[in-house]
Amino acid sequence: MKFIATTPILVEEIVKDELVELGAGKTSAKRGKVFFESSLKKACEIGFNLRCGKRILMPISEWDYSSKESFYEASRKIEWENYIPYNKTFAVRIKGGDSVLRNTAYAALLIKDAIVDRIRDKKGGRPSVNKENPLISVLGLVQDNHAEISIDLCGPLHKRGYRKFATPGALNETLAAVILRICEYKGEELFLDPMAGSGTFGIEAAMISSQMAPGLLWNRNRGFFATDFISAKEKREIVNEAKNKISIPKEKIIVSDISAENIKICANNVKMAKLDKFITFMISDFFDLKFDFKKGIIVTNMPYGDHAEIMGEEKDFFNKVGDKLKKDFCGYRAYLLLGSNLAAKSIGLKASKKISLYNGSKEVKLCCYELYSGSRKKGNLD
Ligand SMILES: C[S@@+](CC[C@H](N)C(=O)[O-])C[C@H]1O[C@@H](n2cnc3c(N)ncnc32)[C@H](O)[C@@H]1O
Repeated sequence: MKFIATTPILVEEIVKDELVELGAGKTSAKRGKVFFESSLKKACEIGFNLRCGKRILMPISEWDYSSKESFYEASRKIEWENYIPYNKTFAVRIKGGDSVLRNTAYAALLIKDAIVDRIRDKKGGRPSVNKENPLISVLGLVQDNHAEISIDLCGPLHKRGYRKFATPGALNETLAAVILRICEYKGEELFLDPMAGSGTFGIEAAMISSQMAPGLLWNRNRGFFATDFISAKEKREIVNEAKNKISIPKEKIIVSDISAENIKICANNVKMAKLDKFITFMISDFFDLKFDFKKGIIVTNMPYGDHAEIMGEEKDFFNKVGDKLKKDFCGYRAYLLLGSNLAAKSIGLKASKKISLYNGSKEVKLCCYELYSGSRKKGNLD
């Protein structure tokens, strides 16, 4: 069967690699999507374990239409009774638009009517709509008189289930996982986020390090768990296999922040993720942090720095970050997510790599610094 993993843009290849690692067959990437082939059970398992993708879509139908009526008729032909149990909740979300279906909300309404009408006919009862928290989501694209409709197999993958509260500027969980994959973090070195906010990097790092599948934190009534797409036995196998993989992280994971309030929020999220045994918390100004560890990896997203100009205190802050890294973190690799190239310039260190990413709709830079001592220090740090 064919499936689609939707991805943050610019990182399609990273998601493709992870999909292959998880057992997806015949992959190919396009902007914001990776197509792959697998059995239905395997696709559910992939979604349960995938860190870097946004959603797993199961395409169920596509058709051309010339009028609203032909659009409705074609949507009613879909065997919805096989996808949406009549006693469960669902929602329809449509993107795109064209001259026939200018209004995507109207296109969604037509599909919703087709679903309800068909299931009522076939089953004598109808599923109800829950726009905020549906058990089954129908997602579609209508464009140039062509419709493509999918079922969201697992729900939004960034919603791991651990983030009860977020601090300002909290990173999307999927993007944090993408960044850790770019950093090639595998849990084999000390991990530090010195400006941790609500702790997204630390939590994702601990999940990688302990081989905890994100799906283990989901409630068991979302996506494929709410349907009969696969049997109860197959669902149990997916969960048990993931549970059996969990191990104790080999190296320390430290999250620190200047704000005691943020660390409290962070600790709460860590507890929700059931990772409290694996993460060390600190309340400290980054500029006062010092460790005896000779090497490690620093991954953080910095406050400030997303303005057109970086001056005064802000500029001093980034200068000081560069000085601090150079002085007290020799031997570490540092990955800083910065709001702009100007912020990167103000750090004053030579980045070994600069990668453009999107944080929501905003372009940001991931700057990699190899803080080696000795001869390489000159090349990298001066
Ligand atoms: C953009 S937020 C980080 C968000 C975080 N990655 C998350 O996903 O929630 C930046 C954090 O840097 C912290 N911060 C600012 N200045 C700091 C300093 N000098 N030392 C340590 N932390 C600092 C703030 O308290 C804030 O929590």
